[in-house]
Amino acid sequence: MTQNEFAGKVALVTGAGAGIGRSIALEWSARGGVVIVTDIDPAAADSVAAEIGGSAHAMKLDVKDRQAIHDAVATSVQVAGGLDALFNVAGINIPRNIEEMAEDEWYAVLDTNLTSIYRTCKRALPEMRKRGGGAIVNIASVAGILAENRCGAYSASKGGVMLLTRNLAMDFAKDNIRVNAVCPGSTRTPRLEKYWQRSPTGKSEIAVLAPMRRSAEPEEIARPAIFLASSDASYITGASLVVDGGLSAGINVPTFERM
Ligand SMILES: NC(=O)c1ccc[n+]([C@@H]2O[C@H](COP(=O)([O-])OP(=O)(O)OC[C@H]3O[C@@H](n4cnc5c(N)ncnc54)[C@H](O)[C@@H]3O)[C@@H](O)[C@H]2O)c1
Repeated sequence: MTQNEFAGKVALVTGAGAGIGRSIALEWSARGGVVIVTDIDPAAADSVAAEIGGSAHAMKLDVKDRQAIHDAVATSVQVAGGLDALFNVAGINIPRNIEEMAEDEWYAVLDTNLTSIYRTCKRALPEMRKRGGGAIVNIASVAGILAENRCGAYSASKGGVMLLTRNLAMDFAKDNIRVNAVCPGSTRTPRLEKYWQRSPTGKSEIAVLAPMRRSAEPEEIARPAIFLASSDASYITGASLVVDGGLSAGINVPTFERM
């Protein structure tokens, strides 16, 4: 990947006001690209765009809102000339088991994490086709591979993201549009830091289960996502890249450590 890999290219990032989305926006612009920084929280989007400077445009975008998605893609075409990459990052979790979970909570998680990707892709694909191709990167989760306790809706949504990624890859390869996913493990973002405050140690409880025994920094997830959108990944489509410090690699058997 060259320093100016994305010169003349435009990316739209959802959930870019914090955490992994913010890091993706920063990494894209650091490699010369224009970025449309979108978030449900307009102040957060503004602050990240200000951090980046002239190559960033901030927009309020709730990924549950079809019209807002339409407007954000239209803006990327108006202000930057088109759309080359889409990073679907916005996501929420409501930890409840299914018996406790209200139907509106179920739909909120599925809508934000999975159905949103149907909406953004539907609007972005024609614009990418006009540019002769493009790249879509969906942020799934290790929870789409391994179920997490009390996170049925979240795990189902992220498993859905991984399979939808493969389906999109199959359907749009003919248009030179590659579609991949990243499955992060525990990553130090504002959302996760709130969870950690509730743990007895104040640290990530998932991270210690990973062979690497630490959480990822947001840029350690952003860089693999950027790689998947770059020309270095030109023959990769339909892949889910697991970036979890080895969490899902296998089962740790303490007895074997002592033998
Ligand atoms: N942090 C982790 O450990 C981790 C692990 C696996 C997967 N992920 C996934 O990575 C993605 C980003 O997570 P994060 O930890 O950086 O989150 P975060 O909460 O730190 O940041 C997410 C951003 O998305 C925005 N957002 C929330 N709902 C939105 C909506 N409806 N429309 C648009 N924007 C919205 C928030 O305002 C926030 O700025 C999510 O899809 C999450 O499921 C995170």
